Amino acid sequence: MDINRNGYISEPQLIDLKNWFSRYVHSFKSSDPVVTQALALKVDHSLRVCDEIRNIGGQIALADGEMRLAEAMALVHDIGRFNQYFFYKTFVDKKSADHAQLGVAALRDGNALAGIDAGTSELILKAVSYHNRLHIPQDEGPTCVFFTKLLRDADKLDIYHLLSTYYYSHDAERSAAVELDLPDSSDVSDEILDTLLAREMVRMEQLRCLNDFKLLQMAWVYDLNFQPTFQLVYRRKYLESIRDTLPPSERIDRIYVELMSYLKEKAGNGR
Ligand SMILES: [Fe+2]
Repeated sequence: MDINRNGYISEPQLIDLKNWFSRYVHSFKSSDPVVTQALALKVDHSLRVCDEIRNIGGQIALADGEMRLAEAMALVHDIGRFNQYFFYKTFVDKKSADHAQLGVAALRDGNALAGIDAGTSELILKAVSYHNRLHIPQDEGPTCVFFTKLLRDADKLDIYHLLSTYYYSHDAERSAAVELDLPDSSDVSDEILDTLLAREMVRMEQLRCLNDFKLLQMAWVYDLNFQPTFQLVYRRKYLESIRDTLPPSERIDRIYVELMSYLKEKAGNGR
């Protein structure tokens, strides 16, 4: 990856940003255990997305400065979640505000990127801003698109990790924060099945129940970018874990087979 002037983060710059992140997160400290748990979920997720992005980055041989840039993006990509929870007491964007935009505002207001050159700061802000969009804007340059894709892959890897274990957890441990407040009924919407059988992307507005959301998450494989990500999703059996929590259905089986064959093909060599 040829990155020229922009897109490089030094070791001290990354340390500064990590310190800023810790201070920022601590500023939301609360005596309410519900708040503490919700915010801890996001801190842990952010740190695991850092691990995942280094994992993918190592396999595609990023240079050190690029790797630090990728890690910086991973660290702050969900920084908007803190203000979102503080002001709205929800992680549901639809009921509050777009957490990516809240994140960009938090980074700007908090001068989080003060020591980083303007071009690189811009890359970080754009990656944060685009990490949850249905599509990356087509008019962005190759460096921005590359890092945004990397961030989106790393983010999805950790969401898969969270959800594939979470769906098996006891009801009492479940939090509406993760489930987007969707009812956990036993149905699956026909509209979602039709959309997936047509290999089209499901939009959040189409979701009617938790099972719809599980199917949407399985279909995220169509939105992954890097071969190591496909390999990790395959090896970690994330799709199987989610599928096993869905009701028996011939149409779901068909979708699952299609998703798995796409995943295997992208992972390469039938692995
Ligand atoms: Fe995230």
